[in-house]
Amino acid sequence: MSNGTEHKSKADAFVFFGASGDLAYKQIFPALQSMVRHGKLDIPVIGVAKSNWNLDQLKARARESCEKQPKFDEAVFEKLSSLLQYIDGDYADDTTFSALREQLGKAERPIYYLAIPPNFFSTVIDKLAKADCLRGARVVVEKPFGRDLATAKQLNKTLRKHLDEHAIYRIDHYLGKETVQNLIYFRFANPIVDAAWSNKYIESVEVTMAEVFDVADRGKLYDEEGAIRDVVQNHMLQVISCLAMECPSSRAHKSILDERTRVLKHVKPLSPDDIVRGQFVGYHDTKGVAPESTVETFAALKFEIANRRWEGVPFYVRVGKCLPVTITEVMVNFKPTENEILNESQSGDEGYYRFRLSPKEEIGQGIKIKKPGEAMTGSIGELVIQPNEQDQMPPYERLLGDAINGDSTLFSREDAVEAAWRVVDPIIGDATPVYKYDKGTWGPSEVEEKVKPKFGWHNPK
Ligand code: BG6
Repeated sequence: MSNGTEHKSKADAFVFFGASGDLAYKQIFPALQSMVRHGKLDIPVIGVAKSNWNLDQLKARARESCEKQPKFDEAVFEKLSSLLQYIDGDYADDTTFSALREQLGKAERPIYYLAIPPNFFSTVIDKLAKADCLRGARVVVEKPFGRDLATAKQLNKTLRKHLDEHAIYRIDHYLGKETVQNLIYFRFANPIVDAAWSNKYIESVEVTMAEVFDVADRGKLYDEEGAIRDVVQNHMLQVISCLAMECPSSRAHKSILDERTRVLKHVKPLSPDDIVRGQFVGYHDTKGVAPESTVETFAALKFEIANRRWEGVPFYVRVGKCLPVTITEVMVNFKPTENEILNESQSGDEGYYRFRLSPKEEIGQGIKIKKPGEAMTGSIGELVIQPNEQDQMPPYERLLGDAINGDSTLFSREDAVEAAWRVVDPIIGDATPVYKYDKGTWGPSEVEEKVKPKFGWHNPK
């Protein structure tokens, strides 16, 4: 098992499957361009896809994607373009992989990024092995890692048949976000915050991942997953693990990952009473969506962590498409103050920390201050920090750069992935009803009856 230093040799070729796909267009080309700009990419970049394309078409697609970025620079793009190579072929076809073997030439430490639908993972890994492409290799796997606990275990088995755990990089781009890393830093770098970080002072934690947009461009894929597989099993549980973990004993990769994983293992499996699923009105009109689909585009969930620090503190999560805003925000709500010099009733107007993870990072501290007058009553004010985002590295640039350099600190691990599936497995699919909600609202009304913090949800604005 890696400790984050043993396997830090730099890759000498970067191969990405799914080169003509959405992820490549939206994330991978911009990340590669940015790496070239920062002088961090100088190895061959080989795109693989089945689109009847040639290299010029790949380059044209890459240009279109990169030109959309705010910092497009012709010279930088030309450098990226000169590194690009392309293989067109079916993932089930041996000749695709013999062509790849040939293209790799003398490369001894290739890295393969599987930016493809999960049903192709096993085939591609088996074919890579058969074509002798896996010697000295690392593999980056995109989420979702399986459809449930059983298929995740199966996928891990396939990967481990050919690769050591240290050569497998399970990507969750939330772990690459500066704002998510700040959840860990902010707490451990400020002892006063860390001292308050338990059920002694914290009433509840809320994570809202709201998105205004629907799933129009990926109806078919989304309809096979739904919100829980798409963002809860991975991104949301990773955010919870960063918020709730114990302090790692060192900076070593293993130590940080151990703590994130340990707390995930203590999250109780969900029961049907812990969730409300929703589907926006009009979802069935989306191209690729089954006419009778009961897949959720919204979920509100209540997690509990069975350890001494978090006993009795609910962690609420709300995710959804077609909601009123596009904002991801964490609220750490403090318990009501009990002090007899104050004449206050418990209204929920209590102190908090607010972490806005996107679109623009913000950290807010809600503090009570006295209202003018004779009574000892107060109201909440907020201190806000808006970190400088100019130098923040986009998550895919950070993670692909780390993978190329052999640093797996910000990736997930087999036991962490399985621990997260164990939590959501009991409520996946149609285990609970799905309720309709109108676009532009905060989900179905059933949420207010069933899954909500003691003093109601904080709706980010
Ligand atoms: C992806 C999901 O993993 O994350 C999408 O598949 C979601 O459905 C996206 O929109 C959100 O990422 P971010 O970085 O914009 O919060």
